[in-house]
Amino acid sequence: MKAAIELVDVSRLYVVGDTVVRALDRVSLSIEEHSFTAIMGPSGSGKSTLMSLIGCLDVPTEGRILIDGEDTSGMDEEELAYIRNRKIGFVFQHFSLLPKLNALDNAALPLLYAGVGQRERRERAADMLERVGLKDRMRHRPSELSGGQKQRVAIARALVNDPSILLADEPTGALDSVTGHEVMELFHRLNEEGHTIVFVTHDRSLAEECGRIVPIRDGRIDDAT
Ligand SMILES: Nc1ncnc2c1ncn2[C@@H]1O[C@H](COP(=O)(O)OP(=O)(O)O)[C@@H](O)[C@H]1O
Ligand SMILES: [Mg+2]
Repeated sequence: MKAAIELVDVSRLYVVGDTVVRALDRVSLSIEEHSFTAIMGPSGSGKSTLMSLIGCLDVPTEGRILIDGEDTSGMDEEELAYIRNRKIGFVFQHFSLLPKLNALDNAALPLLYAGVGQRERRERAADMLERVGLKDRMRHRPSELSGGQKQRVAIARALVNDPSILLADEPTGALDSVTGHEVMELFHRLNEEGHTIVFVTHDRSLAEECGRIVPIRDGRIDDAT
């Protein structure tokens, strides 16, 4: 199987005053194309740091990260932005929607950045919102949506550029358990449609629904199979 994501001896150090925090410590990890992986570990173990690195929102202090076989080390900001926009969709715990825009315009935002014209933006965002079950909420602003619906808008936005990889950092963390399970069902469907999915959770029952659980502790991955 081809690796969608590969980390080779990746470390991320943060320097705060005269302390050095080794948020990730020589992590090696290979994630197969079309797989569904849960990253699980206690608070402060390095999960968000790992996700930011995989998502090319941050760069490692040491080591290499390959996306779709392409080595991202040494890429400049423009090249990293290209990978981010084309290959990776990112979903956060607190949705990060723009409050003044309705669901349609929020979902269309990455297309605006990609220079797509308004008509096509609206069509593609509408298709994506329909895929996540929000056909009848396109004109609602975030404040007029439930938590689960907001997360669906965020998922539509993450996928509107049709990236192969979907990363989600505690996507169910701000949702009640029923809504959390609904979001998981959506991830399962997107995975069946071919997306590679990596998500972070504290919830063992959600993690156990996935093909693979990667445990992380103190910046290290115990099981890097
Ligand atoms: N920007 C930063 N500056 C300094 N230390 C950070 C920064 N981000 C994270 N850390 C530290 O790195 C470690 C891992 O953090 P994080 O990846 O956010 O963990 P998790 O998402 O598992 O809770 C923690 O000890 C945290 O305090
Ligand atoms: Mg975190």
